[in-house]
Amino acid sequence: MKEVLEFIEKNKQELAQTQFIKFLQDKSVDPRQRFAWVPAFAPFVMMFKDFNEIILCKEPAGSELQEIINQHSNEDAQHWVWFLQDLKLMGYNCPINYADTLRFLWGKENIKVRQWAYKIFAICPLEEDILIKLVVAESIEAAGNCGFTEFSQIAKELTEITKQHYPYFGASHLAKETGHIQVGMDSVENFIETIQLTEAQKEKAFTLVEKVFAYCAEAMDEMFTFTQKHTYDQPFITIDGIKQSGTSIGNTTDNIQTSGQGIFSGLVEA
Ligand SMILES: [Fe+2]
Repeated sequence: MKEVLEFIEKNKQELAQTQFIKFLQDKSVDPRQRFAWVPAFAPFVMMFKDFNEIILCKEPAGSELQEIINQHSNEDAQHWVWFLQDLKLMGYNCPINYADTLRFLWGKENIKVRQWAYKIFAICPLEEDILIKLVVAESIEAAGNCGFTEFSQIAKELTEITKQHYPYFGASHLAKETGHIQVGMDSVENFIETIQLTEAQKEKAFTLVEKVFAYCAEAMDEMFTFTQKHTYDQPFITIDGIKQSGTSIGNTTDNIQTSGQGIFSGLVEA
């Protein structure tokens, strides 16, 4: 497994060079704008909850490895709650009618985000080899760590402005997203490293690692594009839409009416 973990690390280093990550690091951009993609990323966060509960977790475990995966996935399946808290703190909990909310969440501007989730569901079917499940989980953790390292920096900048702590995007979540499967406070990396894979498993593992990172990179590219078309205080309306119609846009698949109140004001209810 050691070679696979090294390959995951290599992919993680490459992911850190993508346009999205560079954008997140760009301190010349308002930290609020560097988080303008957050509402559009919601489908992945919510589906990742299901991925942990439905795909990774298996009860009864039946093996030590599945037990480790269960402990990890049970923890990670709870983190969407923090995401909702951050949405409120960022002022994105503004009223939008239900049909428009669905249009936004299943819109064309975040289709790669949803595809990333669908595809990781598809490559880990229920009857899958547990070692392959482990490889996919480790790849997602590594990709997540790449993102959360930057998110926590932006959250820190925001905290200085708003005096709010951001439980999902802030340092406390990063502390739990070390880039590897975690069980309690102990990394099980040494145990995982010593697992022997057959040649066939190794070959499949390398292919899946590449896929998980490729899907993630596509989703990140899409979120970068989103930040170029939307402002943080009007995330549900494209900049073109604002220019054409002001802030009051009709019900189309691209442009959604919102009250637009309290974005990052730090005054919205937690
Ligand atoms: Fe998490």
